[in-house]
Amino acid sequence: GEDITAFASFLSSPSSSLLTTIQPSDSSCGVKPVGQDELDGYNADWMNKYKGRSQLVVKPKSTQEVADVVKYCYEKRIAVVPQGGNTGLVGGSVPVEDEVIISTALLNKVRSFDEVSGTLVCDAGCILESLDREIGAKGYMMPLDLGAKGSCHIGGNVATNAGGLRFLRYGSLHGNVLGLEVVLPNGEVLDGLSTLRKDNTGFDLKQLFIGSEGSIGLITGVSIVTPRRPSAQNVAVFAVDSFDAVQQVFGRVKSHCGEILSAFEFMDQDAFNLVVHHGIKNPFEAKHPFYVLIETSGSNKDHDDEKLSGLLEELMESSMITDGVMAQDESQAGSLWSLRESIAEAAGKKGAVYKYDLSMPIPKMNELVEHLRQRFNDAGVLGQDKQIKDVVGYGHIGDGNLHINIVAEAYAPEIEALIEPYVYEWTSGVQGSISAEHGLGYMKAEKIGYTKGQKSVEWMQRIKGLFDERGIFNPNKYLPSQPASK
Ligand code: FAD
Ligand code: MLT
Ligand code: ZN
Repeated sequence: GEDITAFASFLSSPSSSLLTTIQPSDSSCGVKPVGQDELDGYNADWMNKYKGRSQLVVKPKSTQEVADVVKYCYEKRIAVVPQGGNTGLVGGSVPVEDEVIISTALLNKVRSFDEVSGTLVCDAGCILESLDREIGAKGYMMPLDLGAKGSCHIGGNVATNAGGLRFLRYGSLHGNVLGLEVVLPNGEVLDGLSTLRKDNTGFDLKQLFIGSEGSIGLITGVSIVTPRRPSAQNVAVFAVDSFDAVQQVFGRVKSHCGEILSAFEFMDQDAFNLVVHHGIKNPFEAKHPFYVLIETSGSNKDHDDEKLSGLLEELMESSMITDGVMAQDESQAGSLWSLRESIAEAAGKKGAVYKYDLSMPIPKMNELVEHLRQRFNDAGVLGQDKQIKDVVGYGHIGDGNLHINIVAEAYAPEIEALIEPYVYEWTSGVQGSISAEHGLGYMKAEKIGYTKGQKSVEWMQRIKGLFDERGIFNPNKYLPSQPASK
């Protein structure tokens, strides 16, 4: 409405020196008009589950431009949503109503890379895969990898504290991020772009922004330490008869591979079937209840090859696995990885997906998947010709992180009522977390009490209020508006 027109005039005024901006119909104020379709893309999340109705997307090209926009919004009390690659899975990156979207798409420059320490300093809008390619040429790699790497931004990764496929080896962004530059909700710039590995001076403020999901500021720059790119990488997929055996294999693989293990992922038969139907090549002849994917990364190819072949032999002989394939080259390694990485996409192609991203003791993981299948069968809603097509379990087993995707014909309140709060209660009952790596966003803002105590939530709310006193940053998300209760 009026706010947007005034905002658009501000954006195009000579004093603001701004920026690429999008507004659907009104070109009179000098900003770039776009069709509703393009605007819809910014308003809808990756799953098409959450939709806002923002009329304005702002794409600043520098930290100063972000600060100008945010200061304007602060003064006029206009709500904003920081948006990176819009690949988030909890509805955090799109407006709930008509909040202004501030996109980091044009903040996309590498600022510096130190080839001795491996420290990368870059704008928040750099795409993860592009960064990996750029530093890859210098013998380094990004310490995180995920299926959305082709479109997610490093700022979005930090804002969600994304985990991903190599967390097991390279750990959390809480450890790898060395510094952040953040525009605070009042427009001030907090310059914390340190490149120091060690710095025990005062509170470590950057930690508050890692995983803060755009609730207390907009990250504009990231300093991150990157590991050497391994010269040898191997990938194998094993077929396993039971979830008990999956756990035994995990123990065996850890002790056999030691420091070269870089990923240990699992998927159940239904997840495997989903990706195979989606067109990913099946390397096995028979069907199996579970599959695990392991990756090793080391510096001596012959040594690693020998270790992995020895492991395969040992696991087959001990009957811990029933079949196994090992990639013979990079392209085969890529195909084996697609079996695991394509699950999210394959589920999305088939229907409306309810996603749960849970931490829990590893022995409990498959129990919950089975309970859910039973629950849907009892309600008569599970089957290819019914409301729920598939219930698939997979995840980063090495990190105790289970993903459950429930693929439905369409999002429907009666289906959601069968799942929630059951999944949250069950997870809470085994002392798990209702968000292992995807965050809280809009989906779970009111659910944090299943994992965190009331005092903790109250302190989080205080911190939010301290940074965002006017409540303009990502409203209705991340934390409950009222004190937490279950
Ligand atoms: P967006 O989706 O744009 O935003 C996510 C949240 O961060 C929003 O709340 C937004 O407001 C906020 N935000 C974005 N940029 C900024 C910024 N610069 N400053 C402040 N706040 C900001 N996650 C995992 O942890 N592990 C996985 O393995 C994984 N795999 C995925 C695979 C697929 C196919 C997809 C689609 C998603 C996957 N995700 C995974 C989800 C994950 O959260 C995102 O992919 C990624 O980290 C988000 O980055 P983004 O740039 O797309 O952020
Ligand atoms: C994954 O591990 O594949 C991601 O977290 C995405 C998802 O769970 O859908
Ligand atoms: Zn994941």
